Amino acid sequence: AHLLLLNGPNLNLLGTREPGLYGAITLAQITARLTQLAAEAGHHLSAFQSNSEAELITQIHEAPGTHVAFIIFNPAALTHTSIALRDALLGVKIPFIEVHLSNVQAREPFRHHSYFSDIAVGTITGLGAVGYELALRAAAHHLTQSAA
Ligand code: DQA
Repeated sequence: AHLLLLNGPNLNLLGTREPGLYGAITLAQITARLTQLAAEAGHHLSAFQSNSEAELITQIHEAPGTHVAFIIFNPAALTHTSIALRDALLGVKIPFIEVHLSNVQAREPFRHHSYFSDIAVGTITGLGAVGYELALRAAAHHLTQSAA
């Protein structure tokens, strides 16, 4: 199946951005690892990062056209603000897992609320880049379950 890895604002800075919180790994390294793991599981992964809410919305709108069956999404700061991205996901009805590198529940109160968690298949937080790998594993499992 076709899986989409979607990353929101400032995640292009991974590797140099607050490494104590987000780790030293770059987004390119995460994407390469996930692309490989997806291929090993017989899936195809495409990846998109944007600092623009509008571009992320457009990417979600275009996902059904390219037969995206599942989305792994770190909305970054838009997690806590974006009703528009929530509505885009509801609009296309593509299942997704919400990923956060840091443990948002252990941080500032404004990070405790997510516009995505209640409509996600599941949420993975605080496990760093490994969280993306776990999300891929869960996505592959979800796809076999829903195909059965
Ligand atoms: C983040 C957590 C958000 O609160 C923050 O705005 C980010 C990254 C994470 O992966 O831990 O940009 O989504």
